[in-house]
Amino acid sequence: MQRASCISLFRWHPNATPFPLLPAGGPPDRWPLSGEYGFPMVNTPSQLPEESAAVFAILKHKAREIAAHLPEPDFYRDHAGDLALAHRRLDQDPLLCELRAFVIERLDDDFGHGIGHALKVAADAGALCLIEGARAGHSDAHVRRTSLICQAAGLLHDIRRKRPNHAVEGAHYARKALLTFPVDAGEIDAICYAIRNHEAFQRIKAPPTAIAGLMSDCLYDADKFRWGPDNFKDTLWDMVAFFNPSLSDFVARYPGGMQRLDEIKATFRSHTGKKYGPQMIDYGIRIGKELMTVILTEFCHMLE
Ligand SMILES: [Fe+2]
Ligand SMILES: [Fe+2]
Repeated sequence: MQRASCISLFRWHPNATPFPLLPAGGPPDRWPLSGEYGFPMVNTPSQLPEESAAVFAILKHKAREIAAHLPEPDFYRDHAGDLALAHRRLDQDPLLCELRAFVIERLDDDFGHGIGHALKVAADAGALCLIEGARAGHSDAHVRRTSLICQAAGLLHDIRRKRPNHAVEGAHYARKALLTFPVDAGEIDAICYAIRNHEAFQRIKAPPTAIAGLMSDCLYDADKFRWGPDNFKDTLWDMVAFFNPSLSDFVARYPGGMQRLDEIKATFRSHTGKKYGPQMIDYGIRIGKELMTVILTEFCHMLE
């Protein structure tokens, strides 16, 4: 197949639905995980698993090379101090250390939403909370405690990631789990509200308190920051390893995934998330576009 026809193949699927191959009523292991992430796939065995695995390994390397040439997103430069504090507390605060150990024991780590994802979300959510709490005029002590509790929500938010309605199930799970941790009832309510409302493209209920609303917005935005470069550096390849798609299937789903990335830009909720989130997503989209060019030029023969 010549390159031109490969490009045509790609363009035949500009509006691919998220799950075009989803079998109605299929067995549970063929169902996709709930459709939050950018590149949904079903667990369909590849026809050429070894060859596909080799190609995906190359593509992962290429994606990371492309990402390495992009500037650091402005959020990490402009708010380095808040992020440093959030990272330090993840390593040193007793509550977060205990919760982190709890999550590591219980979180599936094989499909892109494991402990690495949880730690990044917890760090960014904590920083966002520091910024947003200060903007709202809360006292330093109040802001710091709210940020810490938001980091706890970040650690726990995908604890039920492989379940349908994982946000709702995760909130139920967190409510029970947190009874053994040093957090009060109001803080548990806020954590559970934030976890319940962290999934994209879903309706959200009104927050029980203003502080729960602030925490929820920060958790959501930190989670969606991951749809930027992180999606192509890490998440996508962990999901590929889990779902084992053929390259053709991967390519067929690519336009739908890219479209979802574009759509997520308008959903950031906090002032700071709205300011910095779209840039991160745009960086992800740039990586995704360059990566597709690599696929169409170097692996065209596998798309016949
Ligand atoms: Fe999630
Ligand atoms: Fe997440």
